[in-house]
Amino acid sequence: MSVSADRPRPEYFAICEVEEIPRGGARAFDLAEPDGDGHKPFRIVIARNKRGDHFAYRNACPHQGVWLNVGSGTFFDDSGALLRCGRHGSQFDLESGKCVAGPCEGAQLVKIGVAVVTGDVCIHGVKLVEEQRSWDDDDTMDITIPLG
Ligand code: FES
Repeated sequence: MSVSADRPRPEYFAICEVEEIPRGGARAFDLAEPDGDGHKPFRIVIARNKRGDHFAYRNACPHQGVWLNVGSGTFFDDSGALLRCGRHGSQFDLESGKCVAGPCEGAQLVKIGVAVVTGDVCIHGVKLVEEQRSWDDDDTMDITIPLG
């Protein structure tokens, strides 16, 4: 099978360094995606299991669309094994994003491709807009790595 030289290369967006999310931890990032001539918020959470694998999801509960970390600001249930929505307590399998208990049982978080590239946690398969944000001063989305 041949691969066209004109095929667009996937874009990988570096979100943070690997060490910025500890094993068993999670962190929210407020990014932006294209929306017509402008852009709109693109909020994600990147979580790591105890083995150190990364998982990325849109930070939106399938029940009512709120941030998963609404309220307490945390992402995990008391066991540390499941993601939990702070509003009504739905619990999600970390690796699949499927809701395993709560008001939206059976529903699915929107999964985002994630990979570690040269020490950076990168997302892919999405379109992002770099913008000057005024609501915080973190340095997410600092580089873009085109990969073949
Ligand atoms: S909004 Fe998340 S469980 Fe209701």
